[in-house]
Amino acid sequence: MKYVAGLTCHLCGATYPAEASWVCAECLGPLEVSYDYAAIRGVLTRAVIEARPPSLWRYLELLPVKEPRTGFSSGFTPLVRATRLARELGVDELYLKDDSVNHPTFSYKDRVVSIAATRAVELGFQVFGCASTGNLAGSVSAHAARLGLSCYVFIPHDLEPNKILGAAIYGPQVVAVEGNYDDVNRLCTQIVDRYGWGFANINLRAYYAEGAKTMGFEIAEQLGWRFPDHVVSPVAGGTLLPRIYKGFRELREVGLVSGALPRIHAAQPEGSAPVIRALEAGLEFPEPVKPHTIAKSLAIGNPADGFQVVRVVTETGGAGAMASDEEILDAIQLLARTEGIFTEPAGGTTLAVTRTLIKRGVIKPDQSVVVCITGNGYKTAEVMSDRVARPTRIGRSLADFERVFGEAAIGVGDRG
Ligand SMILES: Cc1ncc(COP(=O)(O)O)c(C=O)c1O
Ligand SMILES: [Zn+2]
Repeated sequence: MKYVAGLTCHLCGATYPAEASWVCAECLGPLEVSYDYAAIRGVLTRAVIEARPPSLWRYLELLPVKEPRTGFSSGFTPLVRATRLARELGVDELYLKDDSVNHPTFSYKDRVVSIAATRAVELGFQVFGCASTGNLAGSVSAHAARLGLSCYVFIPHDLEPNKILGAAIYGPQVVAVEGNYDDVNRLCTQIVDRYGWGFANINLRAYYAEGAKTMGFEIAEQLGWRFPDHVVSPVAGGTLLPRIYKGFRELREVGLVSGALPRIHAAQPEGSAPVIRALEAGLEFPEPVKPHTIAKSLAIGNPADGFQVVRVVTETGGAGAMASDEEILDAIQLLARTEGIFTEPAGGTTLAVTRTLIKRGVIKPDQSVVVCITGNGYKTAEVMSDRVARPTRIGRSLADFERVFGEAAIGVGDRG
């Protein structure tokens, strides 16, 4: 907190102390954490960061907490140079930011929750919770367990079974609301107001959002302290995409990276694409939609930070595109087949959109692109059940094997 200047309204610029308030009293705009960048410059050097453990806490001076209390192995996920996938897509330099292996709950949400949970303790909350499309519920529940906080997570009633189990295992109250995410979110806002609980993406949202910047910090550091030409990010509530950009801008501001900022592109599923529709129609504020998509983690029809996504995409010269359910499943399979990474439909959406943007010539073959893979396929494995081959069943002898595979096995390789 040493370098936190306070909370600033994103719309009108009014300033507030760094407490648990989330909307501007003047204009109801969202509040953002601001820092004393001049003081951080020179203190937070590349050498200082590189000497620290490989987690998101290596950027502590740019995060809004006193000291880490959880998430000690969150962040610093692999940035994978994907040569086989790049060849298939027709580009030279493609990287995957692989948050499907983030800790402790295998999605990008472990970044935002590490910060929000730590701040919840600092601000004295006894109950920690969230409104979630699935991944956030798992992460909030795990961090609450670790910190010994009471926990309430609210989800739409029709989530994938493993997303629900992956939250319930940590012992929170899991509340399945008969409605969609936007109904869940509205209810949670009322609950926060009435009970004064600390909800990661509601009254702690300003802090939560800061966790998402670390994806931007890591991309630049892992590329050798430089920016790529393009970044493709999924969009649901709209936290991640603008914060990747904020992370890049801050690295420039404190003198850690120089050069042109990347173009940032938004990916949404066709059945829940308010931001893409706003970009296409030239609207500043997205119009709410009713979501219906296989990508349940991205099924938010009325994104809290949608206008910030529109602004950042426009400002950076980025684009937006949507992916159909079919394209999402194809992309999940392509990623698994070429790079050995199994992602959920959110990652499939992002990769499918990257493919579209390459085809449209928005991303050129000689330009570098980072694709944000934000969730893990094992949580939603059932979406692929019709797409993968069943095991070939055989008897126990070598002859049984050769009866089926004899011809095919010859020439595939030998024991050397
Ligand atoms: C796997 C995954 N990716 C991306 C997102 C979208 O993030 P945001 O709400 O920050 O736009 C979510 C959020 O719900 C998610 O679960
Ligand atoms: Zn304001």
